[in-house]
Amino acid sequence: MYGNELDFRALVNQISRDRGFDCSQYRETYLKRRFAVRLRRNHIQSYREYLQFLKKNPDEYNSLIDALTINVTQFFRSPETYNVLKSTVLPKLIGDKKAVNSRRIRIWSAGCASGEEPYSIAMVVSEVLGKDIVNYNVSIIGTDIDDRSLRLAEKGVYPENVVKSTTGKWSTGKWYLNKYFTRSEDNMYMVNDRLKSLVQFKKHNLLTDRYPKNIDMIFCRNVIIYLSRDFQKELFNNFYRALNMGGYLVIGKVETLSRSVRERFSIIDNREHIYQKKNGHAK
Ligand SMILES: C[S@@+](CC[C@H](N)C(=O)[O-])C[C@H]1O[C@@H](n2cnc3c(N)ncnc32)[C@H](O)[C@@H]1O
Repeated sequence: MYGNELDFRALVNQISRDRGFDCSQYRETYLKRRFAVRLRRNHIQSYREYLQFLKKNPDEYNSLIDALTINVTQFFRSPETYNVLKSTVLPKLIGDKKAVNSRRIRIWSAGCASGEEPYSIAMVVSEVLGKDIVNYNVSIIGTDIDDRSLRLAEKGVYPENVVKSTTGKWSTGKWYLNKYFTRSEDNMYMVNDRLKSLVQFKKHNLLTDRYPKNIDMIFCRNVIIYLSRDFQKELFNNFYRALNMGGYLVIGKVETLSRSVRERFSIIDNREHIYQKKNGHAK
C-alpha cells in the first residue's frame, strides 16, 4: 500500500542505522501497521517519502519509536491472573522459601510500561505477606525500553481514570485504592511510599541487554506479541535462565509459550498462562 518490499526494507535499515532500533526483531505485519500510523499522521503517502522525512526531521524518530513500542497498560490488567497469584502462586512460593529458610523474593515485570503492572504485583505481595512483610526482602523490578514510561512509573502518580481499575467487585471495592494510594488536591493518586519502596525501575532492552539472575517470578505480558517467533524463542530461553529453579513465568492471555521451551516448564494455570520452571533442565 505504501510501497514495495524494497522500500519497506530500506526504511527498516535506515531506522536501524540511525537509531540502533532493530526492527527485524518485530513481526512485519506489526511494523507495517505501526509505520502506517506515523505516515497517516504526517500526511505521507509512501515509505520512500517517509524515509526522506525522517532524514530531514530527526525528531520524528521519537514519535516513531513511541509508536513501535506501544505502552498500553492497566492496574490489575486481567484481574483473574492476579487472583490466581494471590490464592495459589504466591502462597506456594512463600511456603517454598520458608522451607529453605530464605526470606528473599525477587519478581521481575519485564516490559512494565508506566508501572501499573509492578505496582499491582507489589499490592498483591503486600496483601499475601501481611504484617510478615517486614521479615522479607521483597524486590520487584520493573524494566522497560521506553524512557518516558519509566519516568511515569518512577513518579507513581496517576489520574483517577487510571486507578479506577484497582477498584470493583473483584477487589472488594476500594480496598487497594484506599490502602495503597494517597489522593492529592488536584485529584491525582500517588502510590504510597511503603509500596514504592518494594519496586525499582530500570531501563532494559529485552532484545539486547543482559538479563537479571535469581528471579522467583517473571511477568512478561503483552510484550512478546510484537516479536517474531525466533525472538520470542530467544526471550523464553533467556527467561528460563533468569529464573530460579521452580520459579514462575507469567505471560499475556493472548501469548503462547514457544513449543521448544514448553517441555522445560510445567503448567500451573492454563487459563492464566502461568508456568513454572522445571528442575533439571538447566541449559
Ligand atoms: C503493551 S505494554 C505491556 C505493559 C504491561 N506488561 C501490561 O501487560 O500491561 C508493552 C511494553 O513493552 C515495552 N517494550 C517493547 N519492546 C521492548 C523491548 N525490546 N525491551 C523492553 N521493553 C519493551 C514497551 O515499551 C511497552 O511499555
